[in-house]
Amino acid sequence: MSDFSQIDAVMDRSPVIPVLVVHDVAQARPLAEALVAGGLSTLEVTLRTPCALDVISEMSKVEGALVGAGTVLNAEQFEQSVKAGAKFVVSPGLTTSLVEASRAQNVPLLPGIANAGDIMRGLDMGLRRFKFFPAVANGGIPSLKSLSSVFSSLGVRFCPTGGITEQNYKDWLALDSVACVGGSWLTAGNATPEMVKQRAKAITG
Ligand code: 3PG
Repeated sequence: MSDFSQIDAVMDRSPVIPVLVVHDVAQARPLAEALVAGGLSTLEVTLRTPCALDVISEMSKVEGALVGAGTVLNAEQFEQSVKAGAKFVVSPGLTTSLVEASRAQNVPLLPGIANAGDIMRGLDMGLRRFKFFPAVANGGIPSLKSLSSVFSSLGVRFCPTGGITEQNYKDWLALDSVACVGGSWLTAGNATPEMVKQRAKAITG
């Protein structure tokens, strides 16, 4: 197994990672169950709502779900997320303190990058897996293709998020350097668990 086996296990588990902004902890389990039933079981719960840590705990009880924390901005939030049950952590940007927290707690981190300099700082820290964020606003597929061609010999792999939709996710997944994509469209628009399950099934077949 490569040094990146922990984060690869997260990125390769499913082509689409639902990015979840959950406002009511009562919705956590039905939502996670719907996504798992639809075949999408790698779940990123963003720390953008007051109940997010409780949502991570609740979703972690759902059989088959691999629950991580997103929008993690610092080491303290990293630790809180892991205590709540997060098995991976996603951040919008790359910082030394997050990389150190990931190594100290042996929990994989998928840090955001937006340009070549960010990737090079990540490489200096021994990283090869990144979230490309915000993917569409940051130049979209042509931008990631250009970045990928520069770093392809190093085996760098990406999870684009930010502006990924039902309409464009397959185009992103067609890139060699893209392991998976993340997006909030699966649960957008007050979707019921049944709607979420159907949207997931539309991806997983
Ligand atoms: C993220 O946190 O990864 C993004 O905000 C998700 O972006 P989206 O809402 O455009 O899918």
